[in-house]
Amino acid sequence: MSTAVADPRASNAQPPGPRGKPIVGSLLEAWDDPLALMLGGFASHGSIVRYKFAWIPYVVVADAEAAQHVLVKNARAYHKSPNYDGLKLMLGHGLLTSEGEFWKKQRRLAQPAFHRERLAGFVREMTACTEDLLAEWSRSSERTIDLHRAMMRLTFRIVGKTLLSVDLDGEARAVGEALDVALHWANDYVESIVKIPPSWPTPSNRRFVKAKATLDTLVMRVVVDRRAAMERGETVPNDLLQMLLEAKDADTGETMNDEQLKNELLTLVLAGHETTANALTFTLYLLAKHKDVRDKMRAEAESVLEGRTPTMQDLPKMPYTLQVAEEAMRLYPPAWAFERIALEDDVVGGYAIPKGTIVGISPYVMHRNPKYFADPERFDPSRFEKSAQSERPKHAYIPFGGGPRTCIGIAFALMELQVLLPMIVRAWDLDPPSDYELELDPSVTLRPANGMPVERRAITPLRSTPAEPATAR
Ligand code: HEM
Repeated sequence: MSTAVADPRASNAQPPGPRGKPIVGSLLEAWDDPLALMLGGFASHGSIVRYKFAWIPYVVVADAEAAQHVLVKNARAYHKSPNYDGLKLMLGHGLLTSEGEFWKKQRRLAQPAFHRERLAGFVREMTACTEDLLAEWSRSSERTIDLHRAMMRLTFRIVGKTLLSVDLDGEARAVGEALDVALHWANDYVESIVKIPPSWPTPSNRRFVKAKATLDTLVMRVVVDRRAAMERGETVPNDLLQMLLEAKDADTGETMNDEQLKNELLTLVLAGHETTANALTFTLYLLAKHKDVRDKMRAEAESVLEGRTPTMQDLPKMPYTLQVAEEAMRLYPPAWAFERIALEDDVVGGYAIPKGTIVGISPYVMHRNPKYFADPERFDPSRFEKSAQSERPKHAYIPFGGGPRTCIGIAFALMELQVLLPMIVRAWDLDPPSDYELELDPSVTLRPANGMPVERRAITPLRSTPAEPATAR
């Protein structure tokens, strides 16, 4: 690592970084391979690195204290970066993309629905959807499957059932396709230098507008139908939609109107399925590469569950499963980077951050900082034993972000990982072909490029193998 070019204690010192090419700076490298660019910057310049993407100053942070400053301590001096504008056009004003008082009000209304105890009822939906998938695999003679696709389908279905009580695997499959089209469009919009407004009838814009209409219509119909059922006094499901419908601001008694509900539901469908599907896929991939860990996790599942499907009460008894998932999200954080824009001049880690600078906080790079994780490329779930965790600064591990804008779905996501992983692992070996090389696609989320082929082999559960004593958390 080279030494910083300026004195970082002086508040007007710029973070060190590559000079890049004339005019475009490092933009072409960022388009080509942002992970390599950021890791290279970290190796050459340290944990706070300044880039120039054309005329835009961009600082990547992979230092826990600096991340805590931006996300928590001085969070009021930052907004989400304009790179979220594509998502805003897709989702409207929802939790992920809004700011200020509107965001605060929405977060206050939605937060109680995401408490762990309120989510307990969803374990049944999660196990039912997983059992359907496992049964489908048992019936199928297809030996090689695309694991990422299967996980996307599974988490999408779970989100549909738990949020809206709708089966998104059936006739509403068009929703998945519409979501895909809209998300690709949002991604392209973010990456394009000249932003063509969606109202211009280019072929890609037309596809986006149609996809957005499909999404809006479906979700709005679910909301309107639910209100009608409530008015008729019918029994309604206790899903997230219902919790959000009934949510009242403690001070003002205000509730969400239909448009807000639709935006929040779309946000949750989007934020809640691909991230979790990627985490599942990468965890299963790492387990295939580390059979000793897979055996240990399988033994834990067998000893706790004894062939049953998991319940909420089982989850604290499977700490090793959680450690494995956490370590997988360290190496492959589904949200590989998230961004803020500085609303005023600031000083981060001793470096000047002028107003208008985009600050990219990258879990992908942070989680590879050897200051926090020795031998960072090594997959080692013991890093998440309680004692090891307490030795690290809190913001050295940030797969779910931090501060007021931290992921609202943490408990949901962790619960889903802890429920699905043991069910899958105890029933199947899922091994990529021996010549498979993982290639990453860092788009809105970090996912495997071109899916992930795995060969399936049903296994006999290790019923007689006792679990190794696991570390209590
Ligand atoms: C492994 C799975 C997940 C990961 C890695 C993840 C990661 C993140 C991260 C890093 C953020 C913060 C982004 C920022 O600060 O700019 C975030 C925000 C958010 N996530 Fe998640 N997430 C996951 C699952 C979920 C689930 C299951 C839901 C909902 C069902 C969800 C809903 C949201 C929402 C609504 C926000 C915006 C919160 C706000 O700004 O108030 N996420 N997520």
